[in-house]
Amino acid sequence: MSYETLETDVLIIGGGGAGLRAAIEASKHNVDVVLVCKELLGKAHTVMAEGGINAALGNVDPNDNWMEHFLDTVEGGEWLNDQDLVEVLVKEGPDRVYDLEEMGAVFDRTPDGKLAQRPFGKARHPRTCFVSDYTGHEIMITLCDEVRRRAVRVMEEVFVSKLLTNNRSVSGAFAFDMRSGDFIVFKSKAVILATGGAGRMYEVTTNPASATGDGKILALDAGAELQDMEMFQFHPTAMVWPPSCRGVLVTEGVRGEGGILLNIKGERFMTRYHKLLELAPRDVVARSIWREVQEGRGTEHGGVYLSVTHLPPERVRERLKTMYKQFLLAGVDITKQPMEVAPAAHYYMGGVRADVNGRTAVKGLFVAGEEMSGVHGANRLGGNSLLATQVFGKRAGESAALFVKESIRELVDKSQIKIELQKFDGLIKPCNDSKSVAQVRSRLGKLMWEGAGISRTEDSLSKVESEIEYMKANILPKLKPAETKTLHYNKELVEVLETFNLVRVAEILVKSAKIRKESRGAHWRLDYPKRDDVNWLKHIVWYLDGERLKYKFKPVTMTIIKQPTT
Ligand code: FUM
Repeated sequence: MSYETLETDVLIIGGGGAGLRAAIEASKHNVDVVLVCKELLGKAHTVMAEGGINAALGNVDPNDNWMEHFLDTVEGGEWLNDQDLVEVLVKEGPDRVYDLEEMGAVFDRTPDGKLAQRPFGKARHPRTCFVSDYTGHEIMITLCDEVRRRAVRVMEEVFVSKLLTNNRSVSGAFAFDMRSGDFIVFKSKAVILATGGAGRMYEVTTNPASATGDGKILALDAGAELQDMEMFQFHPTAMVWPPSCRGVLVTEGVRGEGGILLNIKGERFMTRYHKLLELAPRDVVARSIWREVQEGRGTEHGGVYLSVTHLPPERVRERLKTMYKQFLLAGVDITKQPMEVAPAAHYYMGGVRADVNGRTAVKGLFVAGEEMSGVHGANRLGGNSLLATQVFGKRAGESAALFVKESIRELVDKSQIKIELQKFDGLIKPCNDSKSVAQVRSRLGKLMWEGAGISRTEDSLSKVESEIEYMKANILPKLKPAETKTLHYNKELVEVLETFNLVRVAEILVKSAKIRKESRGAHWRLDYPKRDDVNWLKHIVWYLDGERLKYKFKPVTMTIIKQPTT
């Protein structure tokens, strides 16, 4: 097996909001930039942040400011956020939204021509800028156009299977080009990982097929640290019916526009759970829906109702265009009938540990967006994910470009390339008792959903853990693509590698969730229902010692508010 070699200064892996923003910024610094994505450019989970992007502009409520945004973010994150990261997020937020405008994004406006802002969960003020309910889509189109205008080489349908390193410095990456079936060795001075989340480890998710945790595993194997891996967000509202639509996002913008949640008795049940009602933090709303269903007040499909029938129909059609069309296709006119919704796996707060510039423990390796941990703590606020892609994407792009200018190119270790080539060679060798990706994914999804989902216990987590151990020992070694004769467009070969990543991420999530013996944000332990700041206001940090996965504790960075106040 042979490979081609490509040399660049900054290699960006991932073509969502964070990767694109990083590419734009890096390209301003006169360095060579290559962006690879495993899908076609533009297909990313960023489009699923439909309801908007937060920035304390104070356009609708002049009392808003960065400190208010900061407080909402750390209170919503149950104090597990690293406050240095949050400070950067909220202070730079307005400028990053204006950047998008300058690049051509067309946001909705107030009657006096300012950027409009809608209320979102746990926000003290209407702070979420939006484009009807397709904000992420508008932002992606804008960023893709900007990248095309710049000196960025984009390579689509290229899957990176390994980062190459030398003495804890990054030297490049090994990749498989799905279109040609060829292998590529990238020699790069810096790498930015922005591959997004890992929602595909759950049976029900808003995430696209590409959200398989690749970047987290690439980073871990390269020597970086992962933290808060037990913290996975369940979006309160996704479609439940018909089955083919299960998991399709129903934007928080619906509740921001005044949508109310009802159980089958017609009760507005959020009155029992939180003073902010439907605009309580996401973890609270998701748990409340879960309880209603568990206690028999849910629909026959395991959901509850979300209604906007009390709002003027023309406003619904204008502000919630996507929702209106999406439900019409499922036979529901949301101006007249309620939507049926339930929680779905949506966003990984856990990920690679990094500083405010996206720098990781590996020299030359940077992260941004959902790859990065510490920003959102134990529960992310709606509208803060798009913002994080822009703030930390820009910072990572700039830092990587500056790093490149003052560093030498690391040598690529040929033995690492050989190991990767052998791995691919082994994967396409047929075996008698091979297992299919679909079987493993479906098993993993169910396990995780039932045992490590919205609610967890020691028992449920232990069961998942032992099944994952069994899978790793007995099933994964036999996991093969159906096609073993050609590498050309062998999509299932990539799916096999993605499955390895998903199983490893799931394993760390479960181990982390077992260790954290308290409930905080999205991590809801039925056997430890209370938050415990005395013992658990700390990160669980994962790293590899040789081949062994180990963990340690690290304090939460509390630069502005030194102790939880809520
Ligand atoms: O509900 C939504 O529109 C999703 C937004 C987000 O995850 O930030």
